[in-house]
Amino acid sequence: MEPRRLCHVLDQSRVILCAGCGGVGKTTIAASLALAGARKGRRVLCLTIDPARRLANALGLERMDTEAKEVEPARLTAAGVRVEGRLTVMMLDPKRTFDDLIVRHASSAAMRDRILQNRVYAHLSSRLAGTQEYMAMEKLLALVHDPGYDLIVLDTPPTSNALDFLDAPGRLISTLDSPMARWITDTFAAPRKSRFDVVARGAALALRGVARLTGAGFIEQVAGFLAELNGLFGGFKRRAEAVSAALRRDDFAYVLVTSPEPASIREVLYFAERLAEHGLRRDVFIVNRVHQAPGATPTVSEVDAALARLGGPADHAAGASCPTLAERIARAAIEEDALARRDRENLRVLDELALGPGELCPIRVLVPAFPADVHDIAALAGIADRIC
Ligand SMILES: Nc1ncnc2c1ncn2[C@@H]1O[C@H](COP(=O)(O)OP(=O)(O)OP(=O)(O)O)[C@@H](O)[C@H]1O
Ligand SMILES: [Mg+2]
Repeated sequence: MEPRRLCHVLDQSRVILCAGCGGVGKTTIAASLALAGARKGRRVLCLTIDPARRLANALGLERMDTEAKEVEPARLTAAGVRVEGRLTVMMLDPKRTFDDLIVRHASSAAMRDRILQNRVYAHLSSRLAGTQEYMAMEKLLALVHDPGYDLIVLDTPPTSNALDFLDAPGRLISTLDSPMARWITDTFAAPRKSRFDVVARGAALALRGVARLTGAGFIEQVAGFLAELNGLFGGFKRRAEAVSAALRRDDFAYVLVTSPEPASIREVLYFAERLAEHGLRRDVFIVNRVHQAPGATPTVSEVDAALARLGGPADHAAGASCPTLAERIARAAIEEDALARRDRENLRVLDELALGPGELCPIRVLVPAFPADVHDIAALAGIADRIC
């Protein structure tokens, strides 16, 4: 597949993964891409993570609802959006995905219940480093063959490092399989193994002391949890390999979202390089919230004259600290122009490094910074229009 434009990516991909650093607009872009795909006649599932409440409501999602829900056509038409295909939205819930994984891989009902009821599991399943990223991948794997969808658009969690989701399967496995985790398991869940290990016994006593401080049975709960998980490792590891293989599918596209800020561009370029190192595709850069040059930067008197032509009321300054409307408009235009210049300058770095010879990524799309947050279907459709 050699897509030349984002439209082709939308037409030809089975999965589009939106990645980028925190707050750049991954969720917004994922929802807009999903809407664009549905407008092109595809049956799209948007797997979203923690969307802003107003956006979730606009799409017909309740906050805690993790079932797949089709966005009612009436909602779309009410927003002036005509959709040939179907748009379904689903909120990712890492804890619930982890639970499903345990249910699927536990060898018995007793084992399943022991893990699910373990207090440590309850804590770790939502907080362990990489869990959220891994579970996003896990859910994707569970849905990627679903014949009910032509395209799955996957939002990724707000991580400080956009690479986290790539390394997550390995990291989660290695955390659970670390020497420390194995030692705790041996010492507490199978004490006979370390009976002659004086050091371990000394440490075990110390840990029991910690356990007294941290609440009855805490360490035993950790050990019990780790010991049970050991039984699942085969399944987990195979699953992590399957996730890894899915990330390399030919019809799996990567959309790298960035803002025009230098730090975000640096991160997304680094991310694109790492994708290449992993042998993964880099299909599209979307630069979100780009400032548009206002076209002209009028003087205060020009703005005054224009306001007078429009029949606006006379506008006098109430003092040096309170500028007139015309002064504020003129200043806003200058500021917007400066921001647009700065963005253009920053984007040159992206273009030279990513789109030049030996290109990292063949497509770059700009999405303007809108004056207000993107929290309804009409605004998503506005972005969909720009990117396609
Ligand atoms: N082009 C835009 N113009 C104006 N506001 C935007 C634009 N894109 C996104 N926003 C707003 O920016 C905020 C952050 O966007 P979003 O939640 O999509 O980012 P994110 O990358 O998913 O964040 P996180 O890393 O926290 O998950 C939201 O309030 C959204 O409405
Ligand atoms: Mg988000």
